Amino acid sequence: MPARILDGRACAQEVEAGLAPRVAILTDKGVTPHLAVVLVGGDHASQVYVKGKVRACARVGIKSTNIEVPVTIAFSDLLSTIDELNADLTIHGILVQSPLPPRMDELEVSERISVQKDVDGFHPANLGLLVQARKGGLVPCTPAGVLHMLEWGGVEIASKRVVIVGRSRIVGMPLALLLARKGVDATVTIAHSRTPELPAVCCEADVLIAAVGVAGLVKADWVKPGAVVVDVGVNRIVDADGESRLSGDVDPAVAEVASVITPVPGGVGPMTIAMLMQNTVTAAELQSA
Ligand code: GUN
Repeated sequence: MPARILDGRACAQEVEAGLAPRVAILTDKGVTPHLAVVLVGGDHASQVYVKGKVRACARVGIKSTNIEVPVTIAFSDLLSTIDELNADLTIHGILVQSPLPPRMDELEVSERISVQKDVDGFHPANLGLLVQARKGGLVPCTPAGVLHMLEWGGVEIASKRVVIVGRSRIVGMPLALLLARKGVDATVTIAHSRTPELPAVCCEADVLIAAVGVAGLVKADWVKPGAVVVDVGVNRIVDADGESRLSGDVDPAVAEVASVITPVPGGVGPMTIAMLMQNTVTAAELQSA
C-alpha cells in the first residue's frame, strides 16, 4: 500500500491561521509585526523563495520589507545594512537569504543579526539556547517545521529511532537537538556523507529524515518497511524530457515502502515558511512586551 502523504501546505495553513489572534493582539497595541528580508544579488531561485516569504507575510498580517543589494556589495556594507535594521525599532525580524556569494562569511552574518530579531534562529546565542533546551530562543524554521508536521500528522516520535541524513547547521544538527529533547524523546542518529554503510544505517530508522541536498539519494531499499520518511531536499533537476523540476532527496519509489511520507514540493517547504511567520510574530511579541 502506498504511503500516506503528509500535506505540508494544509499543516502550514493551520499554523498561519493560528497566528491571526496573536497578530490581532499586537495590532491592538499599535504594533505591526515587521520582517526585513535581505537578498544579495539576483539569484533566480532565491528571488522565488523570497517572494514566497513576502506572500506569506501578507497572508498573516506581517509587514515585510524587501531589501535587494547588488551581488558586488562590499561585505562591510552588507554588515552595515544589518546594523541599520538592528537599530530600527519598527523591524522585529531580519532574514538574510542564503546562499550568499562565496566570498562572504555566512556565520559572521548570522552573528551580526540581533539575537532578538534572528527569525532564522541561526545566531549562536539562539542555537546555544536550543543546545541547553532552554525556552525563550528562536528555533530554526525548517527543524521546527519538521517536528510540528510530524506531531500534526500523528506520527509517534517518543521512543522511536530517528536517523537524520545530513549534519548541516541549518537543518540536520538543530533538528537532532529538537528531536532528542526531553518530552520529544526520540533516539537520534546523525548520518552524513562519511557514514560507513549509510543504506544499512538508514534501514534502522523508524523515522528517516533526508536533508542532504542530493536528488533521489535515499532509495527504497534504504527504508525499513512501514517507516516514516521526511524529505527536506529541494533540488532543481532536469528530467529525461529536458524539463526542469523540483526533486527531493528521496527517490519516488520510497513511497511504496514507507507508511508515511512528505512530498516535494508541498511538504517541508511550506512548513519552513509557516515557522518563519511564527518566529516573526514571537519576535514582535518579545520586543513589544
Ligand atoms: N535559503 C533557503 N532557505 C533559507 C532559510 O530558511 N533561511 C535563509 N536565510 N536562507 C535560506
